Amino acid sequence: MKAKLAFSKSFPIGKVDPRIYGSFIEHLGRAVYGGIYEPGHPASDDMGFRRDVLQLVQKLGVPIVRYPGGNFVSGYNWEDGTGPKEDRPRRAELAWRTIETNEVGIDEFQEWAKRAGTEVMMAVNLGTRGPQEARELVEYCNFKEGTFQSDRRIKNGFKEPFNIKTWCLGNEMDGPWQMCAKTAEEYGRVAAEAAKLMKWVDPSIELVACGSSSSGMPTFGKWEATVLEHTYEYVDFLSLHSYYGNRDNNTQNFLACSLDMDRFIQSVIAICDYVKAIKRSDKTMMLSFDEWNVWFHSNDQDKKIEPWTIAPPQLEDVYTLEDALVVGCLLITLLKHADRVKMACLAQLVNVIAPIMTETGGRAWMQTIFFPFMDASMYGRGTVMAPALDCPTYESTYGEAGYVETVGVYNEEKEEFTVFAVNRNLTDEVEMKVDLRDFEGFVPVDHHIITGAHMKVTNTVDEPWNVLPMILPLPAMDGCVANTELPPHSWNVIRFAKKAE
Ligand code: AHR
Repeated sequence: MKAKLAFSKSFPIGKVDPRIYGSFIEHLGRAVYGGIYEPGHPASDDMGFRRDVLQLVQKLGVPIVRYPGGNFVSGYNWEDGTGPKEDRPRRAELAWRTIETNEVGIDEFQEWAKRAGTEVMMAVNLGTRGPQEARELVEYCNFKEGTFQSDRRIKNGFKEPFNIKTWCLGNEMDGPWQMCAKTAEEYGRVAAEAAKLMKWVDPSIELVACGSSSSGMPTFGKWEATVLEHTYEYVDFLSLHSYYGNRDNNTQNFLACSLDMDRFIQSVIAICDYVKAIKRSDKTMMLSFDEWNVWFHSNDQDKKIEPWTIAPPQLEDVYTLEDALVVGCLLITLLKHADRVKMACLAQLVNVIAPIMTETGGRAWMQTIFFPFMDASMYGRGTVMAPALDCPTYESTYGEAGYVETVGVYNEEKEEFTVFAVNRNLTDEVEMKVDLRDFEGFVPVDHHIITGAHMKVTNTVDEPWNVLPMILPLPAMDGCVANTELPPHSWNVIRFAKKAE
């Protein structure tokens, strides 16, 4: 199979905001307890954080981590996770039907984030609580001193403010599963008032309003418009959430699910711009795709979990090669919208639908989806260039899909150009000519791939190396055209750099 691809410096899509490589830690399953935090583990540090996990998070390259939920946040009293640990209450956690010990809260998590080299994206509870508790949390985290909440923080041992810059106004508030779910009118009003108060405490923060929990919600579209009519002036981002699964075991179809993400993003942009127009606003609303991933493997197992236990193994999807290729296609789709999608969170980071897995008391390892994410975060920085792609297509339930999904990112500072490409063809290699006529003097420096013996291959604790990056020979150049070869069912990173004069 053959394909042709061309890039021109004249057709940039937008600058990559590194926050599109964000992730998510929720108080759910073994994400916190037994995941990032496990005092007594041989690898744990002075605060009980697992150093092996910290190292993997650093390797993944995650610039921001959403916390503490998710569904969890809609019943959360943030004060429970501050101050002396012996005074912290144990609570029945209603979102996931577990016992929350509150051993970890914002006091600890902001320290974990520093050690991981990442920032916190903090969510406030707009379910069981409201604007008052939200503004107090901003005061606790970001106010220097001399007020009730800032002085409490200092008394708890943190002289310097946490300076958390990005805040989510609740989570999935349209979902009946959410504690104190709301109509769009109810949520829009409360989000606008919370936003006002939070920004009055700290005008430098950026706020994310909740979009629909997914594009499949019956209120999708109307929800976005109504919420933005109330909040447009006060917020900076609207959220999108989407999870995908190969439920009918049709790999070719599953690989095309990024078309759905693409359509979802386009629709939300249209709604944001509609509200911009009716408000005669100069401001352009940005998108925060703050939950996305593959999630379906653990669904049946999770139904069997005993309720009201501490940190049970929930949502522990074991990812296959095909999931890694889907994650690659989803990353490329986010990049193709770099002009509007300025934040995104792979949900989640450790143990819970995660690229990083741990054994409680034991080893940590990288799932298949770790690798495309790490590649994108490492090499997908700069300006995204529109791909002019000519390749064969196939019919899928998501519409007509190209056998190749691709995008290019130009890193002006490093004078590097990276092509990310997924070959969705399960049996055939794709010979793809990449025309770089605008990138004079650029030569190939790396072509590495993720693939495997079959689509269902996984990395497990005892076989953590089944799916790993593999280096291919550099593509031959024919003038400014690189003759690349994309193996069947593979994720490809093809890097070019300016030749030294
Ligand atoms: O990421 C798992 C859950 O998915 C989150 O708690 C919720 O926001 C979403 O429904």
